[in-house]
Amino acid sequence: MTDAVTDTVAGLSFEVVPTTTPTPAKRRDEVLADPGFGVHFTDHMVVVEWTPDQGWHDAQVRAYGPFQVDPATAVLHYAQEIFEGMKAYRHADGSVWSFRPDANATRFRRSASRMALPELPEVDFVAAAEALVRTDRDWVPTGGESSLYLRPFMFASEVFLGVRPAKHVTFCVIASPAGAYFPGGVKPVSIWLSEDYSRVAPGGTGEAKCGGNYAASLLPQQQAIDNGCDQVAFLDAAEHRWVEELGGMNLYFVHADGHIVTPELGGTILEGITRSSVLELAESLGHKVEERGVDIAEWRDGVASGDISEVFACGTAAVITPVGSLRWDGGEVTGGAEAGEVTTRIRQTLLDLQYGRIEDTHGWMHRIC
Ligand code: PLP
Ligand code: COI
Repeated sequence: MTDAVTDTVAGLSFEVVPTTTPTPAKRRDEVLADPGFGVHFTDHMVVVEWTPDQGWHDAQVRAYGPFQVDPATAVLHYAQEIFEGMKAYRHADGSVWSFRPDANATRFRRSASRMALPELPEVDFVAAAEALVRTDRDWVPTGGESSLYLRPFMFASEVFLGVRPAKHVTFCVIASPAGAYFPGGVKPVSIWLSEDYSRVAPGGTGEAKCGGNYAASLLPQQQAIDNGCDQVAFLDAAEHRWVEELGGMNLYFVHADGHIVTPELGGTILEGITRSSVLELAESLGHKVEERGVDIAEWRDGVASGDISEVFACGTAAVITPVGSLRWDGGEVTGGAEAGEVTTRIRQTLLDLQYGRIEDTHGWMHRIC
């Protein structure tokens, strides 16, 4: 591998082995002009292996491409897998930045612990993501609200059908240029309330970002689509009463008097990094912010009476997306047809920060290259 170089910014050293078949610049520009979400991938990926004897080893940035997967690979059977979602943003001066990558790294460690996977040190997680972005920096889109979506993930790669934590694990980071998650732009989305299915249960894996949680959400998500809605909302598994979150986003409720409420964490909700950031941003914009239980009746009645003036969803992929309506078997409440004022202001503040248009007083932005 004559043209390999080594990216050594952290504990792990990443050998960078450039692809021999880079995407032609013209094709890459076509992709970046209209990237969609999660459909195009950059030229490289990070791969790191783990075994009990060697720990994390063989860290590489290499050509993006398929894994060879033995049919008995443990993840295919027992879903021992976790992932993260984060973005790299290009600023007006051409520099590329990530947003709170340390928070993703910490959550990834916690997810690993819950799924009996080896914990990857935060510094190596961040270094892996950054090594990939530096290698594929030309893939970070410019303009609009586009970004390079990064998907770090870890899975049981041991070839073994016994049910126990795997002794061979693979960590990987791939990158995908991204436009809006919802193709309709910032138009309010419609939410289907799943009354039959729960996403997770107390004591389960709700606060881990593991693939199994998403698998469990797909049938209710399909029901949402069949009922003409964009996303599914879940209630708690014990009482079917407390609002938890959407299939891939946290929820916020803006009351007419300006105070803002988000469902409290308690082991069944993913602690979103956007959610945590909004808690701080909304407060700095003068809103009183509460984390507490939100009864589904409060959502329905609050929107109907006008006590809840805006509802929005938030997450890395979807940023901040207004919720226009809540539908369930036999009923619907509808809010505004456009994004509300508070939602718009918080959204704009977050984006201005991420794209370097306002001062980063929180120390959340991290320059990659
Ligand atoms: N909840 C779920 C189930 C998610 O998949 C996501 C997306 O990552 C979120 C919430 C929002 O988390 P974050 O803001 O860290 O992207
Ligand atoms: C994200 O926002 O990064 C997510 O993971 C949500 C979804 C794409 C799974």
